[in-house]
Amino acid sequence: MNAALEFAVRGTPRRWLLTGSAGFIGSHLLETLLRLGQEVVSVDNFSTGHRHNLLQVRETVGEGAWRRHHFIEGDITDAAVCRDACTGIDIVLHQAALGSVPRSIAQPLATHAVNATGFLNMLDAARLGGAQRFVYAASSSTYGDHPALPKVEDQIGRPLSPYAVTKYLNELYADVYSRCYGIDTIGLRYFNVFGARQDPNGPYAAVIPRWVAEMLAGRPCVINGDGETSRDFSYIANVVQANLLAATTGNPVAVNQVYNVAFGESTTLNLLHALIANALAVNKPGLTIAPPVHREFRQGDIRHSLADIGKACDLLGYAPDFDVRRGLSEAIAWYAAHSADH
Ligand SMILES: NC(=O)c1ccc[n+]([C@@H]2O[C@H](COP(=O)([O-])OP(=O)(O)OC[C@H]3O[C@@H](n4cnc5c(N)ncnc54)[C@H](O)[C@@H]3O)[C@@H](O)[C@H]2O)c1
Repeated sequence: MNAALEFAVRGTPRRWLLTGSAGFIGSHLLETLLRLGQEVVSVDNFSTGHRHNLLQVRETVGEGAWRRHHFIEGDITDAAVCRDACTGIDIVLHQAALGSVPRSIAQPLATHAVNATGFLNMLDAARLGGAQRFVYAASSSTYGDHPALPKVEDQIGRPLSPYAVTKYLNELYADVYSRCYGIDTIGLRYFNVFGARQDPNGPYAAVIPRWVAEMLAGRPCVINGDGETSRDFSYIANVVQANLLAATTGNPVAVNQVYNVAFGESTTLNLLHALIANALAVNKPGLTIAPPVHREFRQGDIRHSLADIGKACDLLGYAPDFDVRRGLSEAIAWYAAHSADH
């Protein structure tokens, strides 16, 4: 992370509330905030996150830093949990949600309860608790069926899944709360985030950890469709940077906005498969990787997704350091070293 940003965070100790801290993105935010000397209250109910993620953060930051963390095991669908967690908080980083488009198609009510009602509980608790700023995980799924590429923040189409509806609803509520109650809100539309600790298991696992696990197990990866579907794969370090910039920006024009958070590079699934195989070959010499198998396209998936990151660069000073290759080489080294844990 760039030194000026580290300095800005370290220089002003704050009390942060982080939701979803036992999950993939949340655990990286927790690790960074503790490393930068901050006090953190975090909430998770372990529905998709894991205790071992928190343990790993604890081992990484050490006991001294870990003492600045207070963990609440709780569910954000309970408004009282959210209100208690928000007492005395300066900044909220809201990550907790049920991710995955296919999960939302299979379980729309569960997705709505957490991503819509749980989100509103958190936003309202932040307002009542007097937090200065509410930064939240929005999603590239909000672009829906809009055909333009690259995606620019103010051109969105119709949502293609219940998940996308909930993530767009988050943006609408955040905008209204900033205008009605004066709380600063910033939404970060993440594009296919990847990195260490992203869960490879279960039916709703993201493509990169799932494929790494398949390759390590000697099984062929399944590609939905012809493999020319493309995504803007975004390494976790870039996402952490965007959160810290959003949380600390003093630019009045930068608040009450939504931003694309990605690298701004298109990678097809066929190329991704090759890149992962190459990175694994470096970490696990001798591993035999089976050719991929193709099956039908998946419902709710868009064909291409690519971000224009100009708005985040201009208003927040976002400058992502990791393209997909550099990110994959770090992430796959981690998966290779931890493959026995999963
Ligand atoms: N990973 C991506 O590519 C991506 C892309 C776009 C948006 N997002 C968003 O980023 C956020 C974090 O995603 P992630 O990839 O780290 O997912 P994750 O599943 O690893 O983390 C989500 C965390 O939220 C917790 N959680 C879920 N429901 C909860 C509840 N009711 N109460 C308390 N905690 C609850 C889970 O236990 C988990 O630890 C989510 O809001 C997700 O929608 C992620």
